[in-house]
Amino acid sequence: MKTWSRFWVFLLIYPLLQVSFAQTNYAQSGATPTQIPGRNAILVGTDWYPEQWPESRWEDDLRLMEAAHIKVVRLAEFAWSSMEPSEGHYDFAWLERAIALAARHHIDSVLGTPTGGPPAWLTQKHPETLRIDENGHRAVHGNRAHASVNSPVYREYCRKIAEAMAIRFGHNPNVVGWQIDNEYGYAFTSFDDFTRKQFQDWLQAKYKTLDNLNSRWTTTYWSQTYDRWDQIPIPIGENNPGLMLEWRRFVTDTWNDYQKNQINVIRAHAEPRQFITGNFMGFFDGFDHYMMSEPLTFASWDDYVGTGHVDPNYNGLAHDLTRGFKRSNFWVIETQPGAVNWASVNNFLNKGEVRAMAWQAIAHGADDVSYWQWRSALNGQEEYHGTLVGPDGTPVPLYEEVSQIAREFSSVQEAFRGTTVVSEVALLHSYDSRWAIGFQKHTEKYDDVGVLKAYYTSLRKLTDSVDVVSPFAPLDRYRLVVAPDLNVLPKDLADHLLAYARNGGFLVLGPRSGMKDEFNGLLPQRQPGYLVEALGGRVEQYYALEKDFPVSGVWGSGQVSVWAEQLKTFASDAEVAMTYGSANGWLDDQPAAISRPYGKGRITYVGAVLDDKLMSAAGEWMIRKSGATPSSISVPEGVEVSRRSGAGREVFVLINFTRGPQHVTLPKPMKALLEQKQETAVDLPGYGVEVLVP
Ligand code: GLA
Repeated sequence: MKTWSRFWVFLLIYPLLQVSFAQTNYAQSGATPTQIPGRNAILVGTDWYPEQWPESRWEDDLRLMEAAHIKVVRLAEFAWSSMEPSEGHYDFAWLERAIALAARHHIDSVLGTPTGGPPAWLTQKHPETLRIDENGHRAVHGNRAHASVNSPVYREYCRKIAEAMAIRFGHNPNVVGWQIDNEYGYAFTSFDDFTRKQFQDWLQAKYKTLDNLNSRWTTTYWSQTYDRWDQIPIPIGENNPGLMLEWRRFVTDTWNDYQKNQINVIRAHAEPRQFITGNFMGFFDGFDHYMMSEPLTFASWDDYVGTGHVDPNYNGLAHDLTRGFKRSNFWVIETQPGAVNWASVNNFLNKGEVRAMAWQAIAHGADDVSYWQWRSALNGQEEYHGTLVGPDGTPVPLYEEVSQIAREFSSVQEAFRGTTVVSEVALLHSYDSRWAIGFQKHTEKYDDVGVLKAYYTSLRKLTDSVDVVSPFAPLDRYRLVVAPDLNVLPKDLADHLLAYARNGGFLVLGPRSGMKDEFNGLLPQRQPGYLVEALGGRVEQYYALEKDFPVSGVWGSGQVSVWAEQLKTFASDAEVAMTYGSANGWLDDQPAAISRPYGKGRITYVGAVLDDKLMSAAGEWMIRKSGATPSSISVPEGVEVSRRSGAGREVFVLINFTRGPQHVTLPKPMKALLEQKQETAVDLPGYGVEVLVP
């Protein structure tokens, strides 16, 4: 009987599953899943916690939000104890009322599943659901991300609450989407026996035999040889590089299974129009975000500056990274309303800076910018965090700036409908490589994200946009592909890159590339491994540098720092682009960058970390030689130009990240949408913004 009823349920939900599956393929269909049909194309939102306030207060909050043109709220991602006060007794009535009241103020709702904060009744009944840290300490209730996501008991509770929410709200017309968990618990796992056994089983499923595993990891080294699967540890501290890399992949799979457990029940009950997203954290590398993004409708991220001020290149790069997770638009589902509470110095952003940041998000492909949070709970760990209203419930000074942003978004939103960022230049970003370099940095000064940013900074100021994508992404659309430090470069990836260059692509590899296989073992070739032959040259020796050394060549003269590789060419048509000057003896007069035509394209290898001036010149050389289209509008230092296009539209965003005025001459008259007039030049005040259409 039970089996039959399951069968009928399956028959009923099967069509829904099909639609849901189709919905996950937005990237291929060219649609913009981040833009909600019938709503403004770009939105301002906030994170609202009605459960923390008497219901009599909600109307005031929503009235203030509406007055500020806020169009969306995210709710409930920490409200488990309010939604399920005791086991199996759900109370969603308050949430339903909050959503309905928000809708009366023309505000849509996004629901977060509350699994980042299990209630006390759960952790008390099942203490085994509290995770154990690396030191063997079990988490104490009262914080967040304190559950073990490996625990089947915990997963079952997560499934049930997500399912109950989806049944109740999956057809609610005012719920536009879902967020799973919160920041995926910073990728924490539990270091308990059960997780260890899961990891061992995971390894067995992958490697099949211990002989295979022992050989891939060269476990004869330091007597690591395993003759039983249950001997393999969870790596804590330093361990075998192969084991450490697999642990990160296991953590990725763990979190992916954990989110799919919730996604599946939401998809089964929710209307396909409701999106499902997750809030990532920029360059955080606790798991592989490309894999984690696969089951999501689109990726979102939480954009916080912390101490100091926005670095447009770093922030722009993080936006582009997030856009690359699914190669589609994204949401900034949290951002800082002036200041945070968790940095070393929680300074406030300057007046105008929050607006510049909001527009940068849109310029780089976001379709929503949401402020965390609307109002601080009167007690709780984040009392000092920035908000839009104060503890008295009236607006703080920043409220006016956020209102301005939201007003501007509303007035120009149509120009962004159906548009996305279309690039001719891509940077390759790989978690395997970042992890591999991170495990064995060789010099503490090597900063993999810093190297990526150096290439990005140089290229981004010459073009309207740069994509940041997985090395396995389709590359045909790009004129220029740059892999700043692609350390793990197995054969299949090498073939993919070679095919790109052979078919006319301009491929540039940066230092430390092509050194490792997929098991984090050294390739039995010199760098760049499987690309040596096509490059017609190789790395003779790498050097961690204590000090800078001179280098000169087609990109001018300057310094290399942190890392330098001694290169060699052996093909007659391989060219030396840069040569070291007097250095450590070994590097003296040796090639630092080499390049060779390959098929219809070209492969270039840059073996050192270059100074900013050289990096700029190298970027100019790459753009020119590859034929990538230069920026549409030339802008002074500190001003960023970005372009979005699609659905027959083209829109440019100019942002002045400096505090002083800047003048930009336009190549042709354009309509300035914020100023509402035709312009041939734009004068931007400090942190000024303009949106232009041809
Ligand atoms: C993260 C969390 C939020 C909040 C903010 C504070 O992004 O997702 O719940 O704690 O940080 O900056």
